Amino acid sequence: MGKSSKDKRDAYYRLAKEEGWRARSAYKLLQLDEEFGLFEGVTRVVDLCAAPGSWSQVLSRVLVKGEKFSRAGWEEKQKETKQYVLGHAFQEDLAGTKEGGNLKSQEEERKTRESVRIVSIDLQPMSPLEGVTTLRADITHPSTIPLLLKALDPDTFDPKVTSACHPVDLVISDGAPDVTGLHDLDIYVQSQLLWAALNLALCVLKPGGKFVAKIFRGKDVDLLFAQLKIMFCTVRVAKPRSSRASSVEAFVVCVGFHPPHRFSASLDNPLGARAQLPSDEQTANEKTKPSRKVRDDGAIELDLDSDEEDEHDVEEGRGRWIAPFLACGDLSAYDSDATYHLPKDRISLDPVQPPTAPPYKRALEMRKLAGGAYGKTKGQECQGPT
Ligand SMILES: C[S@@+](CC[C@H](N)C(=O)[O-])C[C@H]1O[C@@H](n2cnc3c(N)ncnc32)[C@H](O)[C@@H]1O
Repeated sequence: MGKSSKDKRDAYYRLAKEEGWRARSAYKLLQLDEEFGLFEGVTRVVDLCAAPGSWSQVLSRVLVKGEKFSRAGWEEKQKETKQYVLGHAFQEDLAGTKEGGNLKSQEEERKTRESVRIVSIDLQPMSPLEGVTTLRADITHPSTIPLLLKALDPDTFDPKVTSACHPVDLVISDGAPDVTGLHDLDIYVQSQLLWAALNLALCVLKPGGKFVAKIFRGKDVDLLFAQLKIMFCTVRVAKPRSSRASSVEAFVVCVGFHPPHRFSASLDNPLGARAQLPSDEQTANEKTKPSRKVRDDGAIELDLDSDEEDEHDVEEGRGRWIAPFLACGDLSAYDSDATYHLPKDRISLDPVQPPTAPPYKRALEMRKLAGGAYGKTKGQECQGPT
């Protein structure tokens, strides 16, 4: 498929080039933010599986540069237009309003923006972005955690400590393996990436923090939701409008990180590999062991746990639990599965930042050597790869 044809078939691919995003995925994060207010009060973020970097670009433009998109962007533009038309009268008008009161906080906003820390990780190299520290590493490997902790706090990093001294507000992961087309295998490999992302997030998230990650909706995905529900107050599954309806892709949006009592995150002993959460036996012992209190009159009071807590546990996700599903991005947004007619004289743009060393680079080189997708044309010698 040529660039121009892809422009017609994929509105978000075209829009990304027009609006300067490195990949169409930027719209997925923007639409998720529009729905869930992901960036509210956020100054420290980790972006996992970040190359070519459109999500990091969103973080940089919103958190570091203070740009506004979607509804907030529209409101900002309205304000600017009003200011332009009304001039001085606008300032006077504004002074008496709530918005006017907010003017004083612009200085605070600037200070907050200066304190923003964003660390992005990918197997592939990533071109630099303002305010973003990039690491080339494998998120499934335990050696990545000290690298990440050092990048987050270069001045206070202690190699003996396995969790962040200044934890982060948000961890996002758009991780995807090179798909093989074998659905079960792809879903399995993707779930391993998600698992690695979650384990990394557990080491760096602060209580109340948020975790957003790409999932492939497979057969047993509800089990995953139940597991996430143990760690977060709210777990939702969202499908942004820019994510094709035909794809199994969706995103888990987990808010309110609250690890279970006595849980300590570590990549040497990741969740899932060995028992990390208090075992059922331990929990049962704790529950059946009544607390004793000797009253003034000499009587002994035993405090027995009620069964209510068990029911609560099931509700809270120790059993199977289905996460609420939300389609986000309103109907005014482009439909990612539709083909749009474009003007005849329209010039197709080049991608903003093609991946510097994608895994398919070698395959493309080999195909070029062999004369393109359909081999050498008549009269040309076919040179296969050696
Ligand atoms: C869909 S792309 C991410 C797009 C990115 N969010 C953006 O907006 O530009 C998936 C990325 O996952 C990365 N990835 C896959 N396995 C990884 C791993 N084990 N460690 C780090 N990155 C990985 C790939 O290199 C690829 O760049």
